Amino acid sequence: MKVAVIGTGYVGLVTGTVLAEIGHCVTCIDLDEAKIRQLQSGEPTIYEPGLEELLVKNIARNNLHFTTNHAEAFQHADVILLAVGTPQGTNGEADLSYIQAAAQTIATTVTKDVVVMIKSTVPPGTNDQVEQLIRQQLIQDVKVDVVSNPEFLREGHAVEDAFHGDRIVIGSECAKAGEVVATLYAGLQMPVLHTNRRSAEMIKYAANAFLAVKISYINEIANLCDAIGADVSDVADGMGMDKRIGRAFLNAGIGYGGSCFPKDTEAIAHLAKERQTPLTIVESAIHSNQKQRQRFIDKIERYFHGQVANKKIAILGLAFKPNTDDLREAPSLEIIDALEKKGALISIYDPIITHPKSALSIIECVTEADAVVLVTEWQEFIESDWTAIGASVANRVLFDGRNALPANKLQQAGWTYIGIGKERK
Ligand code: UDX
Repeated sequence: MKVAVIGTGYVGLVTGTVLAEIGHCVTCIDLDEAKIRQLQSGEPTIYEPGLEELLVKNIARNNLHFTTNHAEAFQHADVILLAVGTPQGTNGEADLSYIQAAAQTIATTVTKDVVVMIKSTVPPGTNDQVEQLIRQQLIQDVKVDVVSNPEFLREGHAVEDAFHGDRIVIGSECAKAGEVVATLYAGLQMPVLHTNRRSAEMIKYAANAFLAVKISYINEIANLCDAIGADVSDVADGMGMDKRIGRAFLNAGIGYGGSCFPKDTEAIAHLAKERQTPLTIVESAIHSNQKQRQRFIDKIERYFHGQVANKKIAILGLAFKPNTDDLREAPSLEIIDALEKKGALISIYDPIITHPKSALSIIECVTEADAVVLVTEWQEFIESDWTAIGASVANRVLFDGRNALPANKLQQAGWTYIGIGKERK
């Protein structure tokens, strides 16, 4: 099939590339000329494991093209995939201006019947509105159907998820259009769920909000574990052995960040309030997540008896999670900012993100540090020789914001290990 993709962010670029890999002819569109030139040369604009190889391969196979010209991309398209951003608006609502602009461009540019698939995360009812908007403003006498097809890609695993995700959700009001989308994905071995459009839109929000609630729940359990002397990792293991609960997303830490959970929980909570059916559990999870970062900062301050000024604090990890260079809503930024405001001397090391205060290696970062703070659980930190690191610091205390390191081994190497929900009484 011939596919046009609007938006070359995480979702558009990864989905477009994977659709090219399974044999479709894909043209990705973006307004940013420099970005398009970079992608045409086979160089990804984001860090995503496995993407570059597929990009280079499919450009060479002539299956994957990049352009700034909508008309050129739409000319033969059977499907237009909408993957533009839906950032957070001023009151927490989803800002749909990029979606509306794209819908207008589709209406005034398409010259043949086409199915428009909305992959962007949009509030329930948006697919209906987009279809109406396009149909009202169409210039040519063609048929445009809109199908909701939410994405479930995790950054850092996006390529893997695109091939082997848990499900493909297709929300449509027209059986034929739904079948076109199912045919597009036929090369992927994934269960397909057909629903109506609003249910598909809702599935995305309900799933993300549920995962955010699960994280905030275990974080609060961790705080209680600290208070009573239990170990939250063991508690999570024990809970997770119950198949009805599952172990995934029960890792306590400094809270969730990234481009999806913070924005999507706010958007669905905002919509629910507007409709007078508040999602109080989601609202609590949002609040709890904000508090979790502050609790971690307080823990560090308490260790120094409130005197962090002039203490050298080495921060390991900047990204909101490993295997990504994404800093959106990264807890690291808030933690660094708060410690700097209190006069701490910060040094930073992240395997792929650079910062004005970045060191070139872990050892350079921790040299003479009064405390080491692990913010992102990169594999490089987990595999490091903590005895050697211990020889470089001024004071062997480690705050593990992700419970990622083996506490016992560190303690044997002379470290004071302070995790989340692991305080011994
Ligand atoms: C998420 C969803 O997983 C994905 O399905 C959706 O399409 C987009 O949003 P992503 O934001 O890439 O993906 O990251 P994810 O791996 O879900 O992690 C989100 C945040 O939660 C990270 O900050 C991570 O550190 C945190 N997290 C995750 C925890 O604190 N504990 C956990 O147990 C799991």
